[in-house]
Amino acid sequence: MIDPQSVQEVLNITQVEDVIGEYVHLKNRGINMIGLCPFHNEKTPSFTVSPSKNIYKCFGCGQAGGGVQFLMEHEGMSFPDAIRHLAKKYGIELVETKSENYDESAQLARDSFYLLNDFAKDLFITNLKESAEGKRIGLSYFKERGFRENTIDKFELGFAVKQRDFLTKTALDKGYKEESLKKLGLTSQKDYDFFRDRVMFPIHNLSGKVIAFGGRTLSSDKKIPKYINSPETEIYKKSNSLYGIYQAKSEIRRQDECLLVEGYTDVISLSQAGIEHVIASSGTSLTEGQIRLINRFTPNITILYDGDPAGMKAALRGIDLILEQDMNASVVLLPTGEDPDSFVKANGSTGLTTYINEHKKDFIFFKIDLLLEEAGNDPIKKTGVIKNIVQSISFIPDSLKRALYIRECGQLLNLSEDVLVEETNKSIRSRLNLEKKRGNFQRRDENEAIRPKPKRYDDQTPTNKTEVGDDYQERDILRILLNGGNTFYDEDNKTTVADYLIANIKDLIDSFSNELYKSIILEAVEQIEEHKTLPASYFVNHEIKAVRHACIDLMQEQYTYAEWDKQGLFLQTQKEPALNFVKDSKQAILRFKERKLRKNMKEIHDRLIDPTIDEEMKTLLISAQIKYKMTLMEIHKELGTVVPVKL
Ligand code: UTP
Ligand code: MN
Repeated sequence: MIDPQSVQEVLNITQVEDVIGEYVHLKNRGINMIGLCPFHNEKTPSFTVSPSKNIYKCFGCGQAGGGVQFLMEHEGMSFPDAIRHLAKKYGIELVETKSENYDESAQLARDSFYLLNDFAKDLFITNLKESAEGKRIGLSYFKERGFRENTIDKFELGFAVKQRDFLTKTALDKGYKEESLKKLGLTSQKDYDFFRDRVMFPIHNLSGKVIAFGGRTLSSDKKIPKYINSPETEIYKKSNSLYGIYQAKSEIRRQDECLLVEGYTDVISLSQAGIEHVIASSGTSLTEGQIRLINRFTPNITILYDGDPAGMKAALRGIDLILEQDMNASVVLLPTGEDPDSFVKANGSTGLTTYINEHKKDFIFFKIDLLLEEAGNDPIKKTGVIKNIVQSISFIPDSLKRALYIRECGQLLNLSEDVLVEETNKSIRSRLNLEKKRGNFQRRDENEAIRPKPKRYDDQTPTNKTEVGDDYQERDILRILLNGGNTFYDEDNKTTVADYLIANIKDLIDSFSNELYKSIILEAVEQIEEHKTLPASYFVNHEIKAVRHACIDLMQEQYTYAEWDKQGLFLQTQKEPALNFVKDSKQAILRFKERKLRKNMKEIHDRLIDPTIDEEMKTLLISAQIKYKMTLMEIHKELGTVVPVKL
């Protein structure tokens, strides 16, 4: 685990414009910077970066956060990886404590594997571009396929020469270990190079490191396998990798769609044709790990397969897994005999895009068509089709979506909705029972290990409708806390505005009526207790979207303080809030308390006018009423010293 102090150090030094500047072209616009949003498709920039507040926000799609959050959302990094990445960028030495999950020697071994793969990749590139053999065989093959120079560079394609120990020897000379060469599968047990006389396709992980290779022979000898691949290693798990994901990820995010094709060459030619949101699962059907990986960037998967029966069957496998993740799967079958590579060559990128849009079929409907065609008129087979479809539908976690599918499928299958609903529920129940029997294993997220924070609020928590007035008071307290919490309330005593706010509302937090604001203020209190001040980066990088977005909104709206009540009183200092955090905080607390008091008094009033009330209770309530009135007067008096009060 990364030491929390190190994490804090990184968070403190990170400037959002440094991070985003690497991905988005930013232009100065007043005190802010703007650019084209990398999270959605737009022609006029609505993506705003505020260096002074250290946040980004897109006014088009609503994405917002800080530097760390950007890396997590845009690059699909985990929290620890984003911190490590930034530490490297800013030259900070991280203290990583050894925890159960972190094994230092394993990390060192992994690092050395990456280094060696990187060396091999560079050697293959040099072979391709500089050796006579590479140019004559490899480069001319790529050129013949129509791959341009920049495409070859983008995918870091290379060439392995015929000499049987060229790579092994060069690596050993450079000091790389034989053991590592063998573990990575670059050298065979007989001390030969594993990849010989082949064009080379490196496979990258999300952050662009080479984790494995695929090599294609150019020989037409049928005895030689067309493609060979690196074995699985500590850094390459086939079921968690996707070819092309590094090159495609930002385009996948932007298009909010991921095209899935069969192999290396399909990915490369589509990408070269300008269809860049494309990846390959490399032969096998999609695994759960691969689907999760895609889901970090988009919920929409479109599978592009050959129109032959094998291609269709392949398209069907793995799709229940997609549905289970609440993702949307569509299928596009290409004309028989065509693969994406050949299709885009013959019809160009617009041809392919048009074809995709015209032939894209929702997976479940695709499956119904395919299975019904197979079943023909056989009633038993037809029942099987229904079972099969119902099972797929039952994987969809969202009940509304499920209902929509059931309606559509009822029509396609010529069945009443009731029957389908009943069957779907049966299927769900039997699966739940099965899971219960197996025992429910909870996956441990790497993020949780480093952010051991109670989740009070999550994106699924419904925002309760509260009285508008309450929201205003609570909102203003939060706004002042977030924008001015760290300024001094009292310089002599070294107390901050945050200290003041918290001391005054700590007992009242439970009576916050907006659950989201309540959870934010509780976390703020925790942070302040831990760090003495409120770390500016904390909420803008918050993992819960609702929290992050609410805080960023509050940080941007400081000129629009809410109208407090009918008398039309505003917080005093709208023009220059930054100079008036102290006054504003006093006033906000008083207004908050006033609001709560009035609420209590209203309750008492309502009970007093109830004719069935007994005398004893009446006396009690009246004395409480008097107390409240006196407190209210005190509050008004105090408010009068902060700001003239019209009453
Ligand atoms: P192809 O057979 O079309 O490969 O398979 P290719 O390199 O494009 O060959 P030609 O020029 O059309 O004959 C398409 C994809 O399937 C995977 C590769 O990823 C390839 O890009 N594949 C194919 C393998 O992994 N292993 C194989 O043996 C064949
Ligand atoms: Mn091909």
